[in-house]
Amino acid sequence: MNGKTFIIENFGCQMNLADTSEVKKALSNNGYIERDDSPDIVILNSCAIRETAEERIYGRLRHYSVLKNKKPFTLVLMGCVAQKEKDNILKVNPSVDLVIGTHQKSRIPEILSDYLLKDQDTRSGTSIEEPAMQVFDRLGDYEFSTSVPSTRYPFKADITIIHGCNKYCSYCIVPYTRGTEMSQKSGEILNNVKDLVSQGVTEIQLLGQNVNSYGQDNNDIPFSELLYKLNETNGLKRIRFLTSHPKDFNSELIDVIQECDKVCKYIHLPLQSASDKVLDKMKREYTYEHYRSIISELKEKIPYIVLSTDILVGFPYESEEDFEKTLEAMKEIRYDSAYMFKYSVRRGTESANYSDLVDDAEKKRRLQLIIDTQHRITKEQNERDLGKTEKVLLESVSRNNPKQLLGKTDGNKPVVVEADKGMIGTYQTVQLDRLKGNTFHGTPL
Ligand code: 5AD
Ligand code: SF4
Repeated sequence: MNGKTFIIENFGCQMNLADTSEVKKALSNNGYIERDDSPDIVILNSCAIRETAEERIYGRLRHYSVLKNKKPFTLVLMGCVAQKEKDNILKVNPSVDLVIGTHQKSRIPEILSDYLLKDQDTRSGTSIEEPAMQVFDRLGDYEFSTSVPSTRYPFKADITIIHGCNKYCSYCIVPYTRGTEMSQKSGEILNNVKDLVSQGVTEIQLLGQNVNSYGQDNNDIPFSELLYKLNETNGLKRIRFLTSHPKDFNSELIDVIQECDKVCKYIHLPLQSASDKVLDKMKREYTYEHYRSIISELKEKIPYIVLSTDILVGFPYESEEDFEKTLEAMKEIRYDSAYMFKYSVRRGTESANYSDLVDDAEKKRRLQLIIDTQHRITKEQNERDLGKTEKVLLESVSRNNPKQLLGKTDGNKPVVVEADKGMIGTYQTVQLDRLKGNTFHGTPL
């Protein structure tokens, strides 16, 4: 037992969250103790997807530099900002001790123990040299780790099935920070899921920047077949997956989603824009018509499908007319929810060299317009669901009332029911009675 204490702050996407759990587990296995109060090690798992996300990380680093001057600790930056800005961190914030890139995360216990040993030598006077900032940024030796049940919801687990991205959308930093696509072997995933189920997990979420490219880089089975095989796992009740790319979303996959009873009828399919001109500049490799045909087929084969998307407004060359196409598409498709962003330049990406920029006030106006439109549609979609019965996994005690539990439908919609704490982790058939904001209140049947 080494007894050193640590905290890890997580920023960004579901994949980062899965990486954070993995690092926590690896550190605990190596004798480190997670503790908020005056930790020996502070780790930031960073996100670089937008400028605001990156700025938030620099803000946190400044905060920790001040604390470090009062009482020293080891400051570690991991994740996408670490990978992207590895050569600049020393200039931006010299109080960072370790910069650990996205493919080096499984080495964190080893890197930390080497570093702490040197640090100890400095303090005890054996060595006079302060250990300098160390950077571990090699891409290419990504290792998948075994997924474990979530600490907060022990009946759920996230599994990264494919890491990285080959799409190189012109605005996106991910292919540079996470590297090219690498799929985990299907045999390992299937064994991991069996093991998770034996530990009490009933819901799994398969993660990847691009899950439907699964298996292409290593000649493994395609994603649709992986879903099919996972669906046969005894004891497993729900399979979710994130994120799909419209280019690789085919009829075969739609059929498998329809046929497999455990696969949630919920699809997150980023549209980004409905203007073919903008899609082309974004290098998305599909037209709006293609996207629309996928949605039509999904709605036709699975009438109660729940849909969400990502929309990116204010991209260079986006005219008012282009923007209105996106707005119209949102009204036509009627997503249940959407993640909406205004474009921000990411240095090193192709669109950073584009010239015809939309000014910031206009980007904000467009963003507000789509947010307002989507809020109205979300409300209407939810109202349409009132009176329905849904299978709900009860996940936690409601924050507002200890006698109520909060759960999720297959479509990932939140539902509050009156139920005892002992029911957490069970699936109940619930009638959706009323809405409070976007949260349903229901009665277990
Ligand atoms: N600016 C704004 N949003 C971005 N996204 C990706 N890159 C950028 C960027 N440079 C959004 C896209 C993507 C989601 C994860 O983040 O909508 O689907
Ligand atoms: Fe980024 Fe495009 Fe890859 Fe998604 S598909 S991670 S938006 S490059």
